[in-house]
Amino acid sequence: MAAPAPDHDRPHVEIDRVSMAFDDRPVVDRLTCSFPRGRVTVILGGSGSGKTTLLRLLAGLIRPTEGRILIDGTDVAGLPESALAPVRAKIGMLFQGGALLDSLTVGDNLALPLRERTRLSEARIDEIVTGRLDAVGLDHRVARLLPGQLSGGMLRRVALARAILLDPQILLCDEPFSGLDPISVKRIELLLSRLNRHHGMTIVIVSHHIASTVRLADRVLLLLPGRAVEGAPGELRENADREISGFFDEDLDESLEPREVATRIEPLDDSPRDAGSARG
Ligand SMILES: Nc1ncnc2c1ncn2[C@@H]1O[C@H](COP(=O)(O)OP(=O)(O)O)[C@@H](O)[C@H]1O
Ligand SMILES: [Mg+2]
Repeated sequence: MAAPAPDHDRPHVEIDRVSMAFDDRPVVDRLTCSFPRGRVTVILGGSGSGKTTLLRLLAGLIRPTEGRILIDGTDVAGLPESALAPVRAKIGMLFQGGALLDSLTVGDNLALPLRERTRLSEARIDEIVTGRLDAVGLDHRVARLLPGQLSGGMLRRVALARAILLDPQILLCDEPFSGLDPISVKRIELLLSRLNRHHGMTIVIVSHHIASTVRLADRVLLLLPGRAVEGAPGELRENADREISGFFDEDLDESLEPREVATRIEPLDDSPRDAGSARG
């Protein structure tokens, strides 16, 4: 028998002929794919192609109608609810809505899961909260603010801090770039890349953001009607099959955005300006 492959050569998560139906309507149909350990995989696909459903299956939030979901070799789809806790502890999830409670401060939002699920002292919880804020590039004073007082980009970073709170090995992100300005997109991108490189986190991202996908992804899983395709981003982009490479045409490349925005700025008047009289 061959010696077991070293850990980093084995997939961290495997999906084996998984189907998921809602009210008899198949959303995922006998999908087989894998997510390599310590790598970034981006899931691309049209609206309604089952991307969020797939993340929820991976997180163990819903059970497949059929098939196996192996995390570190353990089939979680077959585990009883009582045995799922240690598996869920390995997984962090950045939800589409951010999942922050508006009535609690950022600090209390972050402390909540630690207070509920651990027996850590308040002093230690405080330390962890500050540490996670720091990890996403936010000052510790942000802990005292309410979510409503933060910008969209900061909120997304707090949501990311919450997703990595319990030090997960696997991080699932549902559209982490949606609705953000280009600078915030880059910042989230950098943070995800850092979590992957410095902490070896296995990261799975659902995204429509092609520019980020090309920059971040080691692997891409493309969900097309009736089939799924896996490959390196460059490989899929150059694919002779237009249904595959066509996905990369819809490039929302930032280089286009400033130009578009610039054409919409109308001068207020056409009188000449000089620095001295500009503002009174
Ligand atoms: N809990 C649910 N109950 C019924 N239908 C659902 C449920 N979750 C998702 N669906 C349906 O499954 C399909 C795929 O949804 P989703 O995974 O959210 O797609 P995506 O994230 O790719 O846009 C959609 O048609 C959606 O309406
Ligand atoms: Mg979705």
